[in-house]
Amino acid sequence: MKSLILSIAIAATAFSVASADPIADRKAIMKERGGLVGQLAPMVKGEQPFDAAKVAEVFTALQANAAKFDIPALFPESSKEGDTTASPKIWEDMAGFKAAADKFSADVAAAAAAKPQDLDALKASFGTVAGNCASCHEAFRVKKG
Ligand code: HEC
Repeated sequence: MKSLILSIAIAATAFSVASADPIADRKAIMKERGGLVGQLAPMVKGEQPFDAAKVAEVFTALQANAAKFDIPALFPESSKEGDTTASPKIWEDMAGFKAAADKFSADVAAAAAAKPQDLDALKASFGTVAGNCASCHEAFRVKKG
């Protein structure tokens, strides 16, 4: 556990120093985020049996994922253009974007702390966490193609 916390701290520090390819880095974080949410979706839908240990593991991993989302390092002005679906609104309303990221972090932390012990509790925590994906994407992401 100590080494896990340490490695998260090191990763967070590395990110805030600089990001050589911020677009690739933020997409990788989002992909990991999507993969983690995808691990819980079948349980939420009742396609897989409820597993409290697995739920706790995924929410903890999501917390680490949220901690890596270092906005100044990942969204420099220079990364507005390129192979990205980030909306220009991010840079127009940086405070609003940061607030959306902070809300996600807080909801994930609450879900991890709640340690859901049954499907109903999981559905409640999952719904709150996943609501952030849609609301932030709607406000701060553009659809391409
Ligand atoms: C604070 C805002 C915010 C939150 C919260 C958020 N996202 Fe994102 N997400 C973004 C932005 C901005 C992009 C576009 C990144 C880019 O293309 O540069 C993105 C892109 C993505 C992508 C596409 C990555 C790629 O390879 O192009 C996936 C998948 C994704 N998000 C999943 C999620 C999931 C799942 C959640 C919720 C658990 C979530 N996101 C929550 C802002 C957010």
